[in-house]
Amino acid sequence: MNILGVDVGGSGIKGAIVDTTSGNLVSERIRIETPQPATPEAVGLTIKELARQHGWTGPIGIGFPAAIQHGIARTAANIDKAFIGTSVSELFSTQTGCPVYVANDADVAGLAEMRFGAGKDHHGVVLIVTIGTGLGTALFTNGQLLPNTELGHIYLDNGIEAERFASEAARDADALKWKQWGTRFNHYLCAMEALLWPDLVILGGGASSKMEKFASQITIKAPVVPAKFLNQAGIVGAALYAQSQLG
Ligand code: BGC
Repeated sequence: MNILGVDVGGSGIKGAIVDTTSGNLVSERIRIETPQPATPEAVGLTIKELARQHGWTGPIGIGFPAAIQHGIARTAANIDKAFIGTSVSELFSTQTGCPVYVANDADVAGLAEMRFGAGKDHHGVVLIVTIGTGLGTALFTNGQLLPNTELGHIYLDNGIEAERFASEAARDADALKWKQWGTRFNHYLCAMEALLWPDLVILGGGASSKMEKFASQITIKAPVVPAKFLNQAGIVGAALYAQSQLG
């Protein structure tokens, strides 16, 4: 089945048509800058434009950078605060005229990796960390997702919120070299390991394609591997999530 998968990020909104039986993209990937301010209306119109550019009128799956409970955004760390309490699935369905299914961006990236990627057939505890404007997390055990873990917001033992210390945005803001950033990111992974003891850690987002530049700084016991889909895991997983909701 083909579904339009969309990944809403702090700087770009990206979408492609995904074949959900193979996990392959079957269209080009289109990226539109995230509108500023990223209000619910403006983000919805951008998704409508993405659908138009793909000539798409079918179901849409969206990975969204917030805790999403039954289609409703509960947090808004890197998006407009007006999203809090908004039923994003209803709003975007109305705006696009397509059935829209929305879940947390890291959770859907995790779905893609567990189905087709680096976590395929893994039955232990798997932690997916997506590195972008924020730090997103998805946690699986025996292939089952515990949704909305929001573990990028823990405070580290240096008193700094993890995503302010070790995200891609923090690397940019502090002009860190990859190894310097890698040391920070390892600090975060050590905190995650001490709390969750994952058997496998999968990294998504932009930094996942640069692992060779910081892998030497990683000291946790669990293997740490890049997402097979790199930063396209969100698009593929968004489509998979929509399919799961369609039944
Ligand atoms: C948000 C999460 C999201 C992550 C990655 C965080 O700031 O709170 O919901 O998964 O960024 O986008």
